Amino acid sequence: MDWGLKNRLSRIIKPHNNRALMLAVDHGYFLGPTEKLENPKKVIAPILKYCDSLMVTRGVQRTSVSPTSDTPMVLRVSGGSSIIGDDLSQEDITVSLEEAIRLNASAVAMSIFVGSKYEYQTIVNLGKLVNEAEKYGMPVLAVTAVGKELGKDARYLSLACRVAAEQGAHIVKTYYCDNFEKVVQSCPVPIIVAGGKKIPERDALQLTYNSIKAGAVGLDMGRNIWQSEHPVAMIQAARSIIHGNSNVEQAYSLYKKLAAQDNQNKSKNQNKSKKQNNPNQNKSKKQNNPNQNKSKKQNNPNQNKSKNQNKSKKQNNPNQNKSKKQNNPNQNKSKKQNNPNQNKSSNSNQSK
Ligand code: R5P
Repeated sequence: MDWGLKNRLSRIIKPHNNRALMLAVDHGYFLGPTEKLENPKKVIAPILKYCDSLMVTRGVQRTSVSPTSDTPMVLRVSGGSSIIGDDLSQEDITVSLEEAIRLNASAVAMSIFVGSKYEYQTIVNLGKLVNEAEKYGMPVLAVTAVGKELGKDARYLSLACRVAAEQGAHIVKTYYCDNFEKVVQSCPVPIIVAGGKKIPERDALQLTYNSIKAGAVGLDMGRNIWQSEHPVAMIQAARSIIHGNSNVEQAYSLYKKLAAQDNQNKSKNQNKSKKQNNPNQNKSKKQNNPNQNKSKKQNNPNQNKSKNQNKSKKQNNPNQNKSKKQNNPNQNKSKKQNNPNQNKSSNSNQSK
């Protein structure tokens, strides 16, 4: 293996622990603006720093990733069918090696559809891509895509991964399944596992843990990160398994802690933006009803009148309070007798 190819591979699979966390955002190449990836730039920005590499199409790389980013790019170079077309397996190579080099890709990726109508075409394309890529020291990632009619069991996935490796793929991406050790053991090149459809966060972390335990070098996870309510929390939790050797419980606790912080920040920002959107809230209430106090008085013109009536009552009976005291001349005296230190203590408090 030449120096350039080894060097590029080491950007994707970290040599210090032989592990990889690839963030997949290439789904639009056949799904269009899939749920929660409608705006790739917004999705990628907060989570990019937590992955080892980004799996991307050239369109998204050009428009949604800064050219100053130092995250290695795994460039998808195959395509040709969409989710509403006749057959998803009808793919060809759509991006040249020159373009991949121009985009400073660290690897190129394409799908093979073993057992599908277009199996032959996609497998031959993989062989041809490896021929071309190796001229430039460019690693090839083969994605073992599974058609609707094919089961994702160990027998089938072992076959698909082995076929990809035999064609010269440097890394193979596949799905997790029961007895996944068998898939890993019969594939002579490193395997990374796709996250698949969105499942609850804890289950996705379990899948990550099981994949690593069974011998995968890492994950290429997309939907289970950016379709989560808390993508930044989720990618860090997955990372803690892949690079921090966390178990599922530890990773899930980390997810919950970071998700709670995220919720707090979100509600703070909501309150802030509410205030910013309506700085004159109190002011405008008054402005809307400048006669508020005035009208209250108008509605109850007798309010002051009755106050005056009380005043006049007192005037009519100036001895009202006096007579109360006269009825109990020892009132204050007896209080003092019950608590002779009353004044003393209030004085001592004052002196402190
Ligand atoms: C499929 O479009 C791509 O190959 C994805 O990169 C792959 O399926 C991984 O993404 P996810 O974790 O969403 O399955």
